[in-house]
Amino acid sequence: MLVWVLTVIKNNLSPCWRRFSVPLQTFCGGDLDTPIKVKCSDHDSDGSHDLIGVFETNLTQLQKALDGCPVEFECINPEKKQKKKSYKNSGVISIKSCKIETDYSFLDYVMGGCQINFTVGIDFTGSNGDPKSPDSLHYISPDGINEYLIAIWSVGSVVQDYDTDKLFPAFGFGAQVPPSWQVSHEFALNFNPNNPYCQGIQGIVDAYRQILPQIRLYGPTNFSPIINHVARFAAHSAQQRTASQYFVLLIITDGEITDLDQTRQAIVNASKLPMSIIIVGVGEADFKAMEFLDGDSGVLKSLTGEPAARDIVQFVPFRQFRNAPREALSQVVLAEVPKQLVSYYKLQGWPPMKLPEIKKM
Ligand SMILES: *[C@@H]1O[C@H](CO)[C@@H](O)[C@H](O)[C@H]1NC(C)=O
Ligand SMILES: *[C@@H]1O[C@H](CO)[C@@H](O)[C@H](O)[C@H]1NC(C)=O
Repeated sequence: MLVWVLTVIKNNLSPCWRRFSVPLQTFCGGDLDTPIKVKCSDHDSDGSHDLIGVFETNLTQLQKALDGCPVEFECINPEKKQKKKSYKNSGVISIKSCKIETDYSFLDYVMGGCQINFTVGIDFTGSNGDPKSPDSLHYISPDGINEYLIAIWSVGSVVQDYDTDKLFPAFGFGAQVPPSWQVSHEFALNFNPNNPYCQGIQGIVDAYRQILPQIRLYGPTNFSPIINHVARFAAHSAQQRTASQYFVLLIITDGEITDLDQTRQAIVNASKLPMSIIIVGVGEADFKAMEFLDGDSGVLKSLTGEPAARDIVQFVPFRQFRNAPREALSQVVLAEVPKQLVSYYKLQGWPPMKLPEIKKM
């Protein structure tokens, strides 16, 4: 069975082939001792390739090739070997490196002990409208809800299953807050900067309801401070070089962003960290800027042209889900996070912290 054909390297007596990857099942049927025959020929454009030599090996042997410690094989041409007594070989093939890499799933990481740190950021800028007025996006209806609260519930109730302590840091941005009445772009929803944790999703909801009458909605709408805030924790956690903690920042906003360029930079920086950003847009605004951040028009780049290392932003307009069951919103909102988590750890080469035990027969 033919497993792989390397590309022809022309006019070179000492060719160096590029690395390739092939599923283990295709390569050797999953059995490391399956004999693998390697044939090396001189390419002829008319198709009559001349055999240089062959050797046989198996994956057990090939795996001994690690970076900086190649494994060498003599290429033997059987005809030449028969003809000439002094024949040694027709060249040596050196395998520079051979690795078996496992593809892990989101569940492998979560079961392996990866914690999801879920942080919520809420837009308290003036463009939302006065919370006391029924037109405001922050207006809490007589039955106790608004789009901000529904978004927190829908997303939070799914995410909290992956978070063992169920303590969620929650922040607001864009309001004037007491006692100084300065505009803040990252204030703890419970007014406790040293301990911004809310107990469960209910805790976030309670803190939101309590803080609303105590602050003045203002502006501008800056996203970058809260993204950078979470990114600092993500950067610190990444220093451990294990798949122990992944950060998900949920930003709920009316979409009228002021600091687009700083936010682009913040996202590009965060794309190198164990972090994803979900933006839920409430209200009827034009969400072009949010779609841009989502990378809908190609890879997001910073103002200086640096591209994001990977896609970490998912934007969802709430209005599309107004009449849908709540699960529909959470499903769409969280669709990308598992892929983003796996892609980050794969890029880093970090396996789950604990692997499921392989049962011995
Ligand atoms: C695997 O291949 C090596 C040569 O590359 C050989 O020495 C060894 O006996 C082979 N192992 C098995 C189980 O066939
Ligand atoms: C989770 O991230 C937030 C920042 O968004 C931070 O305040 C909190 O300490 C983190 N929690 C853990 C357990 O690292």
